[in-house]
Amino acid sequence: MARQLHDFDALHDFDALYAGDVPPPWEIGRPQPVLLALVRRSVLADPVLDAGCGTGALALAVARAGHRVVGVDAAAHAISRARERAAESIVEPPGEVRFEVADARRLDRLDLRPRTVLDSGLLHSLDDAGREAYVAGLEAICPPDALVAVLAMSMDAGLGWGTTDDGLRAAFAGPAWTGTTVSDAEIAARTAGEDLRLAALLLTTRRA
Ligand SMILES: C[S@@+](CC[C@H](N)C(=O)[O-])C[C@H]1O[C@@H](n2cnc3c(N)ncnc32)[C@H](O)[C@@H]1O
Repeated sequence: MARQLHDFDALHDFDALYAGDVPPPWEIGRPQPVLLALVRRSVLADPVLDAGCGTGALALAVARAGHRVVGVDAAAHAISRARERAAESIVEPPGEVRFEVADARRLDRLDLRPRTVLDSGLLHSLDDAGREAYVAGLEAICPPDALVAVLAMSMDAGLGWGTTDDGLRAAFAGPAWTGTTVSDAEIAARTAGEDLRLAALLLTTRRA
């Protein structure tokens, strides 16, 4: 990844990236393998929120697995592509998917009480204030026992930015969250035709 993701923290930058001719490096045409594995091995409770869903690959995979899922992203071009993908995809009931343009820092504006939240690279894209607002929003909308899973770039990826075990845990510290685990993971990316696997962290936690 030539540029740091924090270079893209202005929402219009993300939108411009999705509108451009060259797909952004995280746009690999399929869900991040570590989150797909979580979907396959867990019984996810519905409804599912895919926060910062991009063009919808993960949300669609979750819907195809029979879940009711809402994908939200601040980038209108990403949501537009996600809706096109949904229209082209076969999602058999009880699976169901819809996509909304929304700012993850204002989740309280969503009329949703997700019992599962999947985050594939959103939290690590937010600045400190954005992360705080995002986690506060999760705290507000998640009912007790809701599962939150966050896949975030690790500092160990060697990009000069990223999250740490302590940093991720700190974001979900406090009485609202319980059973927090952080494990080593990978983020798949593609840049200039090259497939990369970057060191990442997977946090899971539950709303107390
Ligand atoms: C690294 S990309 C990951 C996209 C997707 N989850 C994936 O795995 O392909 C981060 C995503 O977060 C979105 N994003 C950044 N800030 C956001 C915000 N405040 N609210 C909602 N989405 C945001 C970006 O538009 C982008 O789609």
